[in-house]
Amino acid sequence: MRIIKTKNYEELSRKAADLISAQILMKPNCVLGLATGGTPVGTYRCLIEKYKRGDLDFSAVTSINLDEYRGIERENPQSYWYFMHENLFNHVNISPERVNVPDGRNLNAQEECARYDRVIENHGGIDLQLLGIGLDGHIGFNEPGPAFVLETHCVDLEESTIEANKRFFESRDQVPRQAYTMGIRAIMQAKKVVMIVNGKNKAEIVKKSFFGPVLPEVPASILQLHPDFILIGDEEAFSEIED
Ligand code: F6R
Repeated sequence: MRIIKTKNYEELSRKAADLISAQILMKPNCVLGLATGGTPVGTYRCLIEKYKRGDLDFSAVTSINLDEYRGIERENPQSYWYFMHENLFNHVNISPERVNVPDGRNLNAQEECARYDRVIENHGGIDLQLLGIGLDGHIGFNEPGPAFVLETHCVDLEESTIEANKRFFESRDQVPRQAYTMGIRAIMQAKKVVMIVNGKNKAEIVKKSFFGPVLPEVPASILQLHPDFILIGDEEAFSEIED
């Protein structure tokens, strides 16, 4: 595990974007595993800037997103499909046929999860996986549980996740209760994993996940075992860790 401590969110976003740019420059046809949520918005903004300056070419890049709400239309502004297009894809030259997000419109969970695992497998896995972390230690929507779930699966979202995500909806009632998420295997098999985390409210879970035992009750803790895991956090996120 490599730790990069940044002064603030801006620096964190730049560092993560630099790592992703390096990946694209080294392998123009790479497979990026991408995340949604508040944390990566700055990273995507930096990537768009690099693209607009002519420093990055997404034309051969494939993206495979981590997760999507179950039972949501792509056009719904709260869908992760929509989020990714708003925050990144619509602003760079990625080919639409190389964009992959679990299909929230498919209510047949078994079918959709198996399809998504085939997508990941057919691409030979992920070169660089970008992650955020939930307050309960979830990665993707791999929520705390009695065991790590390896395959893409359908999850019932934890109350704390519904609570955290309600800020993106008009009301708490509108937050979907289920989601499809990539499993732990695809994340752990990614060649490189980059996690970005900022803010005081994440300090406790950062300490628990990366400076405590590896447990399925703290899903992110498994990343301690990844051979190329980079944790980028701002000072607040690392405030519970001693230097
Ligand atoms: C989203 C995802 C989630 C988020 C996590 C943190 O695709 O996979 O695991 O990364 O919930 O979200 P934010 O960044 O909003 O704190």
